[in-house]
Amino acid sequence: MAELQKDPITRGDFLGFGVLGAISGAILTLPPVAFVLSPVIKTNVLGQTDVDPGWQRVASVEDLKSLKPGTPDVFEVEFPIEQVYSDKEIQEKFPESQKSQAEFTTRHAVWLSWKAPIKTQGTQGSGGDILGEPEKPAILDQKTSGFTESERQEILGKLNILSNSCAHLGCPVRWFPDKHEFLCPCHGGLYDINGGYVGGPPPRGMYSYTQAEIREDGTLYIKHGYDIQPGIPGISTQQPYVV
Ligand code: FES
Repeated sequence: MAELQKDPITRGDFLGFGVLGAISGAILTLPPVAFVLSPVIKTNVLGQTDVDPGWQRVASVEDLKSLKPGTPDVFEVEFPIEQVYSDKEIQEKFPESQKSQAEFTTRHAVWLSWKAPIKTQGTQGSGGDILGEPEKPAILDQKTSGFTESERQEILGKLNILSNSCAHLGCPVRWFPDKHEFLCPCHGGLYDINGGYVGGPPPRGMYSYTQAEIREDGTLYIKHGYDIQPGIPGISTQQPYVV
């Protein structure tokens, strides 16, 4: 199973560093206070989160039929997760959690849309300008089930399957129909309909799900896994700030 979020500084750590910096002077003059900060300065990964590697349902054939070209729609998918926390103090405090690995599901928002021809711009990815109409596969208007392998591949090839988490620090992005762009409310990250980087602090475009399949009845399934290649030349690869 994939192990997630090992290396990047988490948002919790990031906030922790800020708190630490702000009150470091006080620690020097008030040593007994330091023990209060001990949870803040733990930056090593002490646990593990494993996401079920199996297929999870995203949308029915009717959902795909009603997906309008040029208008992304958001769908919910549930991923079963197992977690374990290996810090001794925590294990003593939460002994129940160690009887077996904690299991639960998390809900992810996934944006689906039909791919559009987009004007690219220098090394910054997308210019955000849509050069033509996104194409919805014609077969979806002709059949409701019994899709052949080639028909399924055709549908999949025209579909954007994007994570809702911004590629900067993971805030949920939202589609603005008037601007034809996704906007992240946290720091103003912008993306085109295909998830390409348009502007703001994100180091790359939106994360897309790399393992997807359409079944014979037209239902869309995905596995938990993203493309983690850098979208903008010169920017290093970054694991998604999502699980
Ligand atoms: S988290 Fe989206 S721009 Fe910062």
